[in-house]
Amino acid sequence: MTISSLPGPKRDEVQAHRGASAVAPENTVAAFRAAAEQGAQWVELDVALSADGQLVVIHDGSVDRTSSGTGSLGALTREQIGALDAGTWFDPRFAGECIPSLAETIVALGELGLNANVEIKQHAHHQSLDQLVRAVQADIAKRSSSTRIMISSFDAAALKAMHALEPELEMAMLWGQVPEDWEQQLAAIPATTIHMHYKAVSIGLLEQMRERGIKVRAWTCNDPVQLVSFWDAGLTGVITDNPKVFLE
Ligand code: G3P
Ligand code: MG
Repeated sequence: MTISSLPGPKRDEVQAHRGASAVAPENTVAAFRAAAEQGAQWVELDVALSADGQLVVIHDGSVDRTSSGTGSLGALTREQIGALDAGTWFDPRFAGECIPSLAETIVALGELGLNANVEIKQHAHHQSLDQLVRAVQADIAKRSSSTRIMISSFDAAALKAMHALEPELEMAMLWGQVPEDWEQQLAAIPATTIHMHYKAVSIGLLEQMRERGIKVRAWTCNDPVQLVSFWDAGLTGVITDNPKVFLE
């Protein structure tokens, strides 16, 4: 049996994790472009505030792992972060790629015809939740009319604050494991979706969530065989470093 004959997600339910981060440096425009080239319609990207209160697209709390620079986001301005090389660490072919701001990324996604799952990261240097969610709101307001946005976070408070500002957007709670009080947590946001580590997805979980009308996507899975039994049981989507393996 070939991969393409296995059950799989709908084409618009394959989200490229940090862009197509298997083939291009994560959370860069190159990775988002690669996702579009692979046929993905959505990218997942991580956002956090710089020292001067601008949103940048980066996973870690420092620039050390994914750029030519060093230092925590709380010690670097947007301009300083944007001047770093965020491609060479991955492959010299990507030299000169930068850590984009969320505002720049929103423009690029419009040009690429991509939708975005914006994952809000909270770091110690953030002054307040209000500052963080208002910055997200201001940047996503600049999206093209064809760009769809959803919000995800490991932080329920961030989702609750974001929902209060943008009640029409899909809110997805990120979990590695389902907490005992999951239903109360989702209702308090309120969130309509959970994004679960793919190893914590089970038929039982999908049935339980389906009964309550809660959507489930699995992260970060790069092997379609791992999820094959879950699509018919109601799994909605997948977040993957390598969208093409779910789109072939
Ligand atoms: O959206 C799923 C995934 O992004 C969560 O983990 O650490 O890669 O942001 P992380
Ligand atoms: Mg993420």
